[in-house]
Amino acid sequence: MIQESPPPVRREIPHGGLPESTLPFLMDPYGFIPRVCRSKQTDLFETRIQFEKTICMSGTEAAEVFYDTSRFSRANAAPSRIQKTLFGEGGVQGLDGDAHLRRKSMFLELVEPDRVRHLSEIFERHWELMLDDWESRGRLCLYDEMRCLLTRAVCEWAGVPLSEEEEPKLIEDLTSLFADAGSVGPRHWKSRRARRRTERWAGELLQKVRNEALEAPAGSALLAIAQHRDENGKQLDLHVASVELLNVLRPTVAVSVYIAFAAVALNKYPVTRDKLIERREGYDRAFAQEVRRYYPFFPVVAARVSETFEWKGYTFPEGRLVVLDLYGTNHDPKDWDRPDAFLPERFPGASMCPFHFIPQGGGDPLRNHRCPGEGVAIELIQVAARFLTLRLDYTLPSQDLSVDRKRLPALPKSKVILSEVRRSGRF
Ligand code: HEM
Repeated sequence: MIQESPPPVRREIPHGGLPESTLPFLMDPYGFIPRVCRSKQTDLFETRIQFEKTICMSGTEAAEVFYDTSRFSRANAAPSRIQKTLFGEGGVQGLDGDAHLRRKSMFLELVEPDRVRHLSEIFERHWELMLDDWESRGRLCLYDEMRCLLTRAVCEWAGVPLSEEEEPKLIEDLTSLFADAGSVGPRHWKSRRARRRTERWAGELLQKVRNEALEAPAGSALLAIAQHRDENGKQLDLHVASVELLNVLRPTVAVSVYIAFAAVALNKYPVTRDKLIERREGYDRAFAQEVRRYYPFFPVVAARVSETFEWKGYTFPEGRLVVLDLYGTNHDPKDWDRPDAFLPERFPGASMCPFHFIPQGGGDPLRNHRCPGEGVAIELIQVAARFLTLRLDYTLPSQDLSVDRKRLPALPKSKVILSEVRRSGRF
């Protein structure tokens, strides 16, 4: 006789303990969910965030269910203050079903491996061009220099013309879109102004391309987005197209955060630096992966339950907001050996499971909302690791390199000051 397995026992989702968790989350965006999960010995709990009932989840199994597109949708999932700053309204992040697949395929074509290689060559060339200036200054802020170089590189790569006069404001605005969005008060409002200005600027460029008043290079992001047609064959609304162009420029500039952390890691873990200098096969990629795992960036992603379902005996009611803990999943002691140690050697093995290592989201980037720009981030961190170990000599003057984990995204407090910068003979 075939024995049917018993249905899972119905369970109440544990309560997080506080009636409203917005403040504790903002006070400790990377630690809040893992801490509550640990204290309740659970992978999920319920609370309220911004007065809305929310299920918070952490870990590999939670990520697997979160990225099941038949169970979750992204429409109206991100808080309005994030849509008005970081994401923009009408972009790929809030789409579901066929509309999402079609828009996503455009992004994935833009970041095919040869295109990513081209971007990294442009980045290297711009960095190389700065070396005389770096040597003459001797002392500089790495994070600020990277924001500048990455803005130059991504604009050139994306086919976006950028004049010398426009450049400083664009660097500030693209930075503000990711660095001030999650703040409260004046910094958040700065991010909203940056969103309005950059969308206007991007919209004008896209309009010129459509009117043939500006020639965008074949294969460029500017051309692809200007000409993209949705699943009904319609050109993107100009505002939506400007949001999507910024969805390429902004996050590429944000890789400056990872590069700042890469420099901190090189300083803190000299063995890692030595291995990079020895040019061990695959080590630079493993280093970039461990930078993305170890250091905090986006703490969480949000989705809504499309239709009521049961998981492990817990009921997820239709419409409920669910937040997945990215940082905590990358540091979950159930899945990671010595999660708080910086060990590039754990890669490539650790990147095999798409729900286990999720600094830029999980699942399949084609079908899920997983970031299409992971290859870009990995490649640019590798270029930076090579520059910082093989191309340059420098010292780190006394400074506070501790991580400000209340900031979103977190950043080394000093933003990494380099001094006595000069070319090295190792290249
Ligand atoms: C600093 C490096 C980056 C980080 C930390 C990062 C992180 C993320 C995260 C957490 C998501 C959301 C995943 C989800 O909703 O499940 C995402 C989505 C996205 N990222 Fe990135 N990203 C980075 C670089 C890039 C780059 C370089 C590009 C483009 C060239 C890019 C374009 C996008 C787009 C378009 C989405 C939306 C995808 C969708 O909704 O289907 N990102 N990213």
